Amino acid sequence: MRVKDKVAVVTGSGRGIGETTVQRLAEEGAKVVVTDINEEGAIKVANGIKAKGGQAIAVVTDVTKLDQVEALMKKAVDEFGSLDILVNNAGFNRDMLIKNMTEKDWDDVIDTDLKGSFLASKFATPYMVEKKYGKVVNISSRAWHGNPGQANYSSAKAGIIGLTKSMAWEFGRYNINVNCIAPGMIATELMKGHPKFEMIKERQLANMPIKRLGETIDVANTILFLVSDEASFISGEVIHVSGGRFG
Ligand SMILES: NC(=O)c1ccc[n+]([C@@H]2O[C@H](COP(=O)([O-])OP(=O)(O)OC[C@H]3O[C@@H](n4cnc5c(N)ncnc54)[C@H](O)[C@@H]3O)[C@@H](O)[C@H]2O)c1
Repeated sequence: MRVKDKVAVVTGSGRGIGETTVQRLAEEGAKVVVTDINEEGAIKVANGIKAKGGQAIAVVTDVTKLDQVEALMKKAVDEFGSLDILVNNAGFNRDMLIKNMTEKDWDDVIDTDLKGSFLASKFATPYMVEKKYGKVVNISSRAWHGNPGQANYSSAKAGIIGLTKSMAWEFGRYNINVNCIAPGMIATELMKGHPKFEMIKERQLANMPIKRLGETIDVANTILFLVSDEASFISGEVIHVSGGRFG
């Protein structure tokens, strides 16, 4: 029970990495807020946790909308009495070369992946500051190093590292740890749905020391470590969960 009775909000937890994260945190005693833009996914995941004896609520939130994000954090505290853990996980990619990328393609990815993390952090941290306790994990991507066809996504994910390091400085004095995970290729619906999935997979495996794709549990276990008190002297860090591939 490494996070017993801690209250955790994980954005984009209606499926994928976020889903496995809320399940793992609940197994370790956390009360979890399953929040996603996709209502059906959020309810299904929360019900699954409750069916196993865990504590969970589902809240529909679009992380790009300030009012919804503010209300989400208030709901977490109203329901469970506290807010100890925030995982900024909601995100997606829309890959294409810059010559084909529209302003909307740029804005949509930056708004969800980067601004969404800022908004959730802005409205979650006041509760943590008040308690002088908190853990924030931001989900970047190995793509922050840069990839052709991912200018919007790589920029958002590199921005998340800047956000993490700034937050670590701003909130360290309040006993709040802020860290970042940069996953490599994880076998989720998001990746499997990519039109060039097989080609990308082969190319990735050829450039990875560990010859397999990541699983959502690889990321969830690293999040669990970072939000547990085992990691209380780690902040502003970027951990690649990428089978040893960095660039
Ligand atoms: N899968 C990978 O290989 C991989 C690699 C590196 C980084 N990541 C990052 O990990 C995170 C999770 O990815 P995943 O593979 O689990 O994706 P996924 O698509 O399976 O899950 C993402 C979830 O975020 C939700 N979401 C999207 N926009 C939202 C919004 N505006 N507000 C609230 N929720 C929203 C979706 O509905 C979905 O349930 C993302 O930030 C992604 O960029 C994934």
